[in-house]
Amino acid sequence: MSRYTVTAALPYANGPIHIGHLAGAYLPADIFVRYLRLKGEDVIFICGSDEHGVPITLRARKEGITPQQVVDKYHGIIKKSFADFGISFDIYHRTSDKIHYETASAFFTTLYDKNVFITEESEQYFDEETQMFLADRYIVGTCPNCGNSNAYGDQCEKCGTSLSPRDLINPHSQLSGKPPILKKTKHWYLPLDKMQNEWLDKWIRSKEGEWKNNVLGQCKSWLDQGLQPRAVTRDLDWGVPVPLPDAKGKVLYVWFDAPIGYISATKALFEKNPKSDPARAGRNPKFKEQWKNYWCDPETKLIHFIGKDNIVFHCLIFPAMLKAEGEFILPENVPANEFLNLEGDKISTSRNWAVWLHEYLEAFPNKQDELRYVLTSIAPETKDSEFTWKDFQARVNNELVAIFGNFVNRTLVLTKNYYESKVPQHGNATDLEKECVAAMKRAKKNIGEAIEKYRFREALAELIDLARTGNKYLADTEPWKLVKTDPDRVATILYMSLEITAYLAVLAEPFLPDTSANILKMLNIEKMQWTHLEGQVLKPGHQLGTPALLFEKVEDDVIEKQIQKLNSSKTLNQSEPTNAASNAPPAEASAKSSTTFDEFSKMDIRIGTILAAERVPKTDKLLKLTIDTGIDKRIVVSGIAAFYEPEKIIGQQVSILVNLEPRKIKGIESQGMILMAENANGELAFVAPTKVIDNGGTVR
Ligand code: MF3
Ligand code: ZN
Repeated sequence: MSRYTVTAALPYANGPIHIGHLAGAYLPADIFVRYLRLKGEDVIFICGSDEHGVPITLRARKEGITPQQVVDKYHGIIKKSFADFGISFDIYHRTSDKIHYETASAFFTTLYDKNVFITEESEQYFDEETQMFLADRYIVGTCPNCGNSNAYGDQCEKCGTSLSPRDLINPHSQLSGKPPILKKTKHWYLPLDKMQNEWLDKWIRSKEGEWKNNVLGQCKSWLDQGLQPRAVTRDLDWGVPVPLPDAKGKVLYVWFDAPIGYISATKALFEKNPKSDPARAGRNPKFKEQWKNYWCDPETKLIHFIGKDNIVFHCLIFPAMLKAEGEFILPENVPANEFLNLEGDKISTSRNWAVWLHEYLEAFPNKQDELRYVLTSIAPETKDSEFTWKDFQARVNNELVAIFGNFVNRTLVLTKNYYESKVPQHGNATDLEKECVAAMKRAKKNIGEAIEKYRFREALAELIDLARTGNKYLADTEPWKLVKTDPDRVATILYMSLEITAYLAVLAEPFLPDTSANILKMLNIEKMQWTHLEGQVLKPGHQLGTPALLFEKVEDDVIEKQIQKLNSSKTLNQSEPTNAASNAPPAEASAKSSTTFDEFSKMDIRIGTILAAERVPKTDKLLKLTIDTGIDKRIVVSGIAAFYEPEKIIGQQVSILVNLEPRKIKGIESQGMILMAENANGELAFVAPTKVIDNGGTVR
């Protein structure tokens, strides 16, 4: 038996999870872990929320809440999404937990005491108005590489270049909007240059042939450029405080504390998770120390599942930290995936170009395995890949329904019809049966080998191949025709088909856990281990359960709806947003508190038409509109100039609140209010009827 510590990147707790996350790290990790568990290996599967970092503090500022409130909200949402999709973490922890603060502090202190760090006083950007140093994303400016005027202090999201604040042209503060000044500050640095020479370079290059090419390629390009000392502290007020007397107002850099989160989560797992055998914990006072088996024993294999944007941190920086600490093992492998695109475009949370897991489940309740299946079949294992709704539909219908589901269903229904759902007694095997047995053995071997090489697409294709073999076997032998003439032969055929079905149930578990459980239930057998797939699985005479369909066809209209939904977010989001919170969720996640119908009825909302429109002088947001409300013609001042050209909206129908108290805006009396829809980026669109309604028509 081997011991494994498997981690999946800790997602930032500042937005929900989409299919790109799932395909990139969590699904492959889950398949790997489920497989190891089926083989009876000793494995822990670690994840949790990454709750520090500038995007979270910026989001909190924008929403007028505290960073803790931001992470509390998204920690819950993300945790639930993972659970819904069967991602079987042993613990989903969080980096705002006390145990993490202690662990990360102690880690820093050890490195400090060992004189690992170098310190440097340098000039950094400072916002005089808010009296804050501007770390990372607090500062924006023009990218020196591509000219994008909204590049961040740590990275340009347009061209992907990683930057430092001093690289930006025309830098300005996200907080005050003003250009910052330079001010001296002291920070602690990990001397990666020295570590590269001492061992890191050699260590990475020794992984040649073992690690994935896309991963090694990125590492080598960093090494070839020569690693630079990297600051592991920041001037910020959200994070793990730097545990030194002369470091007031400083916290650990998020990329220093977050990977230590894997270790804190492991400690938490053995300290307080009731699943980890509390009885044993009581008897064995060393139980709490068990986390060390998973982090300090050189026999343990540490494996990080991540997306490609995390490669440098997991392959170079975190190993450098672990090695410097001295007590810890280094990763055995870091099977990072590339990116998943969506319908011809990059997934973008800020443009809401994404399929969110919670929204998928609303449209496709209980169809988690369908998404797991499609995302695994198209996973970006060696290069970027693409999800499209049409392809989703085709794979579900042509593979899951027509091959896998169809085979299992035919087998169980025929057995029910001919043998009252009892496993029949088989006769002599012909060549056809021998081929089936060979295919079963081959599938088990090939799936296992592919998973162990992190080739999950290939493994899944082998699984479908076995179902295809079963389908073909039934089509070739035609038991429904033989039943009258050769019942003994039919017994053998259905026995064989049931054996294949049992294999499918077990072999499918890592990929399609719900489906696997459903088949086991229909076969009326207990969950089996991988190693139990030897010789005969089912005993003649065994009573089976009731057959039910495993998968349903996905219809065209359902897919059309999803495509339309995506495209509507495209028209709303044609311009790149200028705000900082790149992980903004699509809309307000929760509703306002309830109101009464009476309250609502007090509002007199009518359909009107814009007769004239002009800019309000000396403002850049306001338009003065003349509206025909059906009751009268009146003037309304509206803050929509950033989104609509005055000459282009003449004749546009709008919804207008006509009984709002008149108000003077820039010297003009505004008589009412136009209703506007707003997306998460603050972009506005008219709320208008979908066919022409006479002016004065009511909105209720
Ligand atoms: N929060 C990071 C991201 O989403 C990943 C952190 S992984 C860890 O890109 F190792 F630092 F935890
Ligand atoms: Zn750029």
